[in-house]
Amino acid sequence: AVRYDMIVVSNRLPVDYVGGTGAEIEWKTSPGGLVTALEPVMRAADGAWIGWAGVADREFDAFEHDGIELIPVPLSADEVADYYEGFSNDTLWPLYHDVIAPPTFHREWWDAYVRVNRRFAEAAARAAAEDAVVWVQDYQLQLVPRMLREQRPDLVIGFFNHIPFPAYGIYSQLPWRRQVVDGLLGADVIGFQRAADAGNFTRAVRRLFGYTTRGTVIEVPDDTVGGTGTRRVVARHFPISIDAAGFEEIARRPEVQERARQIREELGDPKTVMLGVDRLDYTKGIRHRIKAFGELLRDGRLSVEDATLVQVASPSRERVETYRQLRDEIELMVGRLNGDQSTLGHQAVAYLHHGYPREEMVALYLAADVMLVTALRDGMNLVAKEYVACRFDNDGALVLSEFTGASDELRQAILVNPHDIEGLKDAMMGAVEMPPKERARRMRSLRKRVRENDVAHWSASFLEALTGSGKLAAGLS
Ligand code: G6P
Repeated sequence: AVRYDMIVVSNRLPVDYVGGTGAEIEWKTSPGGLVTALEPVMRAADGAWIGWAGVADREFDAFEHDGIELIPVPLSADEVADYYEGFSNDTLWPLYHDVIAPPTFHREWWDAYVRVNRRFAEAAARAAAEDAVVWVQDYQLQLVPRMLREQRPDLVIGFFNHIPFPAYGIYSQLPWRRQVVDGLLGADVIGFQRAADAGNFTRAVRRLFGYTTRGTVIEVPDDTVGGTGTRRVVARHFPISIDAAGFEEIARRPEVQERARQIREELGDPKTVMLGVDRLDYTKGIRHRIKAFGELLRDGRLSVEDATLVQVASPSRERVETYRQLRDEIELMVGRLNGDQSTLGHQAVAYLHHGYPREEMVALYLAADVMLVTALRDGMNLVAKEYVACRFDNDGALVLSEFTGASDELRQAILVNPHDIEGLKDAMMGAVEMPPKERARRMRSLRKRVRENDVAHWSASFLEALTGSGKLAAGLS
């Protein structure tokens, strides 16, 4: 069997199974920011990606897709229900996003989480060459670093958490809080999006285990056979990003610009197109955004002739009850708002419950005068960075929630607290009315930031911290 020097392990592969068998299998790009960020990294690296193909009860051989070697890990229907929909997305997801929705704690879900994490760790142990680098991703696989170290002490193990890590007062609700932190401490480097997340994690380590921490270094008891001293684990922030040049390249294509013009036309050429783009998730603040927009129309500060809100809400985790409820709530809100405010010629909200190919997303970004990112809690939010990367015309205004990781970097956006609906309305009007000169000044500075801190920079700095050398990292950028 081929052994790899560099392996990424994540719950999802970059592609989901759509249908078919044998050579006829059809795949589509997986949803979410993790895949958006890691895909260009893995295409540049000569490694393998281990993950689930997004379908229950199917086994696939390893295969190559778009220049990336993929090694699928199978999940049974029960495991999808208990490990993925249950523990990952109904326990950890709401808990780590500051309990915006109440987390559910079930011991059977936890048991499935342990079992599936072990399967991923075993797959990585099998695929890794001697002294290889294994980079584990996100909250679904927090036990993998420890499990992998036990099987393969020769490996260099990194972990990156794509979502927030909550304050101890919230984290401590988790009945398995010690096991999860201990699982992570099996890594050599644990990466977070924001400095605040790394700080929350380090405090949890001190509270739960009493280990000494010095800045970003945690001293963990040495667990190798006969080992006495301590092992140093680094926990710090590495804000993730996008392939900024790739997005800009698409935005500069004449056919994409033509499509952007067409979109505005199809919307009835309103003065202002506002845009929201999210997975349909309660962390994204979609209801707050629609509420604010509805009140601006009702108060007469905007009219449907002047302004349209395009809301792309891509389907997500549809078998989890909280997500079903959210969809109903949003669709009720949109239906009411359109019923009250739309005219035959002008629709208040264009609501699209689909995912779109990247080219169409870029055309939407180019068509939007105002981008609304109003998440109540978000690890990073790559949509904000995508919008900025596409605006090579230095136009467009970004309204950005302070509760996103992106707001640490994108200081020239119009920053908002989405819970403050009056403040959000003022910010939206500020964006609509912003003089072109100021829009351009802000967008230039935002673009510079996103171009300089792109995803190659992110992966290079993480891998440099992990291997202590720029060699591996340099091969990637
Ligand atoms: C977020 C998470 C990812 C996840 C993605 C899509 O970006 O950080 O780990 O893959 O959402 O969610 P899904 O449950 O469909 O994988």
